[in-house]
Formats: sequence, C-alpha cells, structure tokens
Amino acid sequence: MAVVGAGPIGLAIAWRCAARGLRVTVHDPAPGSGASAVAAGMLSPVAEAYFGERELTGLLVASAARWPEFAAELGEVTGAALGYRTEGTLMVGLTADDLAEARRLWAYQQELGLPVTPLRPTELRDREPALAPRVRGGALAPTDHQVDPRLLVPALRTAAERAGAVLVPGAVRRLADVDAGVTVVAAGCGAAALTGLPVRPVKGQVLRLRAPGGAAPDFRHVIRGYADGESVYLVPRHGGEVVVGATVEERRDTDVSAGAVLRLLRAAVELVPELAEYDLVETAAGLRPGTPDNAPILGPLPGRPDVLAATGHHRHGIVLTPVTADLIADLVTTGVPDPLLDPFRPERFGRTTEEDPWN
Ligand code: GLY
Repeated sequence: MAVVGAGPIGLAIAWRCAARGLRVTVHDPAPGSGASAVAAGMLSPVAEAYFGERELTGLLVASAARWPEFAAELGEVTGAALGYRTEGTLMVGLTADDLAEARRLWAYQQELGLPVTPLRPTELRDREPALAPRVRGGALAPTDHQVDPRLLVPALRTAAERAGAVLVPGAVRRLADVDAGVTVVAAGCGAAALTGLPVRPVKGQVLRLRAPGGAAPDFRHVIRGYADGESVYLVPRHGGEVVVGATVEERRDTDVSAGAVLRLLRAAVELVPELAEYDLVETAAGLRPGTPDNAPILGPLPGRPDVLAATGHHRHGIVLTPVTADLIADLVTTGVPDPLLDPFRPERFGRTTEEDPWN
C-alpha cells in the first residue's frame, strides 16, 4: 500500500499498517513540513467542542481517549520524548463579556456530558497564579492534554520506518502515478488536487515565545481564553517555550502580518502579563486542511475502494491522529469500515468535480 503525505496522520497510518505486516511506502517531498510544523499540539476535545459539531466532538473524545496508550507505545518503540503533558486546560474569560461568551460554551459542553469544572476566581488563581488579576473567571477541562508536534512527527517517522515502512521523497501529482494496491491520501490541503474532495486551506498564524534564561514558563496548564473578544491559546512547554495561537483565516498564503502578531500578543499578555518579558522567537503561519462541515474526511472515495481519504482534519489533526490511524489501518487490513467512520465518509460531499481527478 502507499500513503501520500508524511505528516502525523500519514506517518501514524503507515506505522499502524506496517506493524500489521503490510508493505508500505510513504510519499512526501518534505515530511512533516505541513500544518503540523506550526501546530500547538493541544489535545482538546472538550475546549474545542463547538455548537453544531456533535459528531466531530464524539470523534475527538474517542481519539483523545486513545492518546495515553498511543503516546506510551510510541515512546516505548522509539525511546523519544513527545512532550506529552496531562496538567489539563484552563478556559478563561478576561472581561465580563468574555466570560459570558465562554459560559455559554461551557454550558453546552457540560450538556454533552464533557468534563468541565467551573472555577471561582480564587480557585482559578490558586491553580495558575500567573493569570492576570483582571481575569474574571474560568473553568477546568482536566482531560484536555497536550503533546509537542515537533517531537511527535519525527517519532512517528522513526516508528513507521522501524516497522518497515519506506519513505519515498518526491511529490505525487496524480494518484495514477502511485503503483500500489491501496492508496491512502493523507496529504492535508494537497488532497483536494489529488481527489477532488472539498478540502481548502484555512490559514493560522502562530507565535512562539521563550521564557527568559531558559526557565520553564510561569504557568503549567494550557490556557484558552477570550480577551476583549479575541480568542487565544497559550501552550507552555517544559523547555521554556510558549506557543501562542492562532488566527483562523480563509487565505492560502503563509505570510505573517503585523496585525495578527499584535492581536495575538495583546491577548496573550492580557491573560498572562509576564509573557511581555519573554523573547518572541518565532512567527509562522500554517494551512489547516478545512472542510465544509469542519470534520475530517475518512474512508474510500466514491467508486474507488482502492483509494482511501484521511484528510480534512482542520483544527484537530494532532488530537485525531490515533483514531484516524487505527480506523484506517483496520479498514485496510479487514476491508470492514468501523461504524465510527460513518459520519466522516467522503460520499457525504458527493462527487465534487466534473473532471475525473483520479486519472
Ligand atoms: N487546534 C488549534 C488551531 O487549529 O488553531
């Protein structure tokens, strides 16, 4: 079989399939250079449970539940550190309006039965003293964890190669050029040109800050907040890095704009004032593979049982890596689709191009 795309999704599928004894090639001109190179690595099924996305939330929860074992197995196979951390996520609102907005979402998340614990301001600051005194309130999502994608992707590559998968450098321009019984298209935004599926780039600008003197950041939870109407997340790493993200823009360039940097930094510093003393060490933009319903596209293309899509993960590529890899590997090896795949199959979008993109 062939996998097109060596991001986390493609590499995890290759690992799982090769470990089951399949001969696997993975095609990518620049492994790990897509959205995952910029991603913050939040494993946030709760904080990212949005109105109108129940089925997606179900898949996020199912995948997050697989993460502890997935991380342990990957760590064991490769000996690599992944930056997997389980302190949980604090969701906060800076102003009364921000808090009112956040509370609507927390109420919805609680209605779904997701673990969200509202905290009084004193409880919030006991947990995270670095939060600004102005922060009006918050809630804890204890099961929303994090991993470092810049450690994860090389580890997945090592695991896939140790299991026998072969990386083939070079771009695949037409599926007809790949000589394999089954081809899995895990090419992120590149899946659109290969399959005609409705995957479009959704730009995200992200900053990386570093605590002075190589110290650990002043906070340990992932913090997701609204600050004067601006949505922002702050992801602390043990090594001193803090990832600050992210814009969500219907654009296909990867330029970094002064306005986006200003808005992200302002929101970050309003929530955690010490961040103003950190070094700004990186600004970057990535392209998330978005879909019309914000959910991934998983399974055989209509009329092409030999071509499986594993794309369109939009804001959730890292958290959805384990479940995507398991479900696609099951499908390849047994031919039987898991019912979890049903809402995410490509045929929900019909046949979307007039031309046959597969030839
Ligand atoms: N999951 C976070 C983002 O896409 O910005």
